[in-house]
Amino acid sequence: MESPFLPLSCILISSCLLLTTVHAGSGYVYYDWTVSLSIRSPLGVPKQVIVINDMFPGPLLNATTNDVVSVNVRNHLPEPLLITWNGVQMRRNSWQDGVRGTNCPIQPGQNWTYSFQLKDQIGSFFYFPSLLLQKAGGGYGAIRVNNRKGIPIPFPQPAEDIDLLVGDWYNVHHRDLRQMLDQGRHLPRPDGILINGHGNFGPTVFLWRSGLTYRLRISNVGIRTSLNFRIQDHALLLVETEGSYTVKKYYSSLDIHVGQSYSVLVRAKNLTHGHSFYIFVSSRFTKYELLGLGVVHYPDSRMPPSGPIPTRPAPFDFGFSINQARSIKWDLDVGAARMNPQGSYHYGAINVSRTLILENGLVVGSNNRIRYTVNGVSFLHPDTPLKLADRFEMFDELKIVVPSFPDAPQTAETMKLQRMGASVVDVKWRDFYHLVFQNPLPNVQTWHLDGYNFFVVG
Ligand SMILES: *[C@@H]1O[C@H](CO)[C@@H](O)[C@H](O)[C@H]1NC(C)=O
Ligand SMILES: *[C@@H]1O[C@H](CO)[C@@H](O)[C@H](O)[C@H]1NC(C)=O
Ligand SMILES: *[C@@H]1O[C@H](CO)[C@@H](O)[C@H](O)[C@H]1NC(C)=O
Ligand SMILES: *[C@@H]1O[C@H](CO)[C@@H](O)[C@H](O)[C@H]1NC(C)=O
Repeated sequence: MESPFLPLSCILISSCLLLTTVHAGSGYVYYDWTVSLSIRSPLGVPKQVIVINDMFPGPLLNATTNDVVSVNVRNHLPEPLLITWNGVQMRRNSWQDGVRGTNCPIQPGQNWTYSFQLKDQIGSFFYFPSLLLQKAGGGYGAIRVNNRKGIPIPFPQPAEDIDLLVGDWYNVHHRDLRQMLDQGRHLPRPDGILINGHGNFGPTVFLWRSGLTYRLRISNVGIRTSLNFRIQDHALLLVETEGSYTVKKYYSSLDIHVGQSYSVLVRAKNLTHGHSFYIFVSSRFTKYELLGLGVVHYPDSRMPPSGPIPTRPAPFDFGFSINQARSIKWDLDVGAARMNPQGSYHYGAINVSRTLILENGLVVGSNNRIRYTVNGVSFLHPDTPLKLADRFEMFDELKIVVPSFPDAPQTAETMKLQRMGASVVDVKWRDFYHLVFQNPLPNVQTWHLDGYNFFVVG
């Protein structure tokens, strides 16, 4: 990754950035967001939810390839705030990425304007607050990056695009969940599943018209639960995932892990016989079952949804999930952000510079407190964002940086000396890295790979 180019203060950046990153033909999108707490009861239990402009989920960030996006974020929360743009390739703007390693948090009562270009991107993504487990309180929303004029989408224009943000939900305040983790305890099981901020007691109702085709942009915005998504009596035609168009393929249900986004086309029924239909979202790989419901209504629907629940994979059928992931292929013949087909860059011919094997783990310390680790190191945040520290060559002063972060898992013995710290991997511009993830723990783990281009190869 490129060496960062950081002015002294995080506040100064946005204006110079606008001058340097705008390319001819790119548009501007401007948003003004106030982030605050509001009492909502998605599962029937009142909770302080993080809302943006009084909305939960937050407003749609709707833009087009190469647009420059500015988002003025006003923090009316009682705690510091950063918003991260999941799936957006920050490239030269990587310090706008809204994670603690790159950005100074926006302090309570302050505002800061993110500014980045959606260069060479299309697709469905979402944003969320990255600090202090605030994601468990809400504050998330959908991102759409539309095709530029002149580059056709590789399917007929749908009648409507619909964002579906699905995820597990806790009735407990995110502050109390955070406290559990800080005390070295595990998170409890979630209380339910939300679809667009609504639980089963007042499910989200979508009104569809017969014969039309809808594009659903579905993201798992939850904390920890993999989900299976299906719609009674309607097939899902997968067309895009996280910024790449896929070979079109029908699925009766889709596994969506935390952080993943998919676009599917759904053709509304010609004849409903007065029925309406359930959308089901159920937990995967859990001993308990959480179920989220939505409803599809048609103008002539007279009855609430009924009839057989569409089958779901068995809760611990890992093979289903892995085979489904393997069945998803890039469509190499169509353009996306550019005219030339997605397949014209031959990723298969890349020379890998270095392989990193990243293994998550946990250590149980004194008082039975747990800490999570990567290759034996448990991460500590330095007070200065790492990118600033790098720019000003302050790593030595930070003391807690682990510059010799190991490329492979280490035994407890070898890691004894340096068990906690801010892990840093030095990489070179234009190199390609092969990242292998290993999870020896008995539950599903999700990695947030931030700010750059990542391609799944196996
Ligand atoms: C999103 O932006 C596109 C391109 O400017 C526009 O055509 C579309 O109507 C917008 N959608 C919404 C929901 O604002
Ligand atoms: C804060 O918001 C004001 C508008 O109310 C804007 O003029 C200013 O540039 C914003 N400050 C930052 C640092 O983004
Ligand atoms: C539904 O209607 C569309 C357009 O009128 C037609 O092309 C399609 O074949 C119909 N589907 C069925 C199952 O009748
Ligand atoms: C990989 O290395 C080979 C041999 O050095 C070279 O011919 C090839 O162009 C390289 N591939 C890429 C994509 O750089």
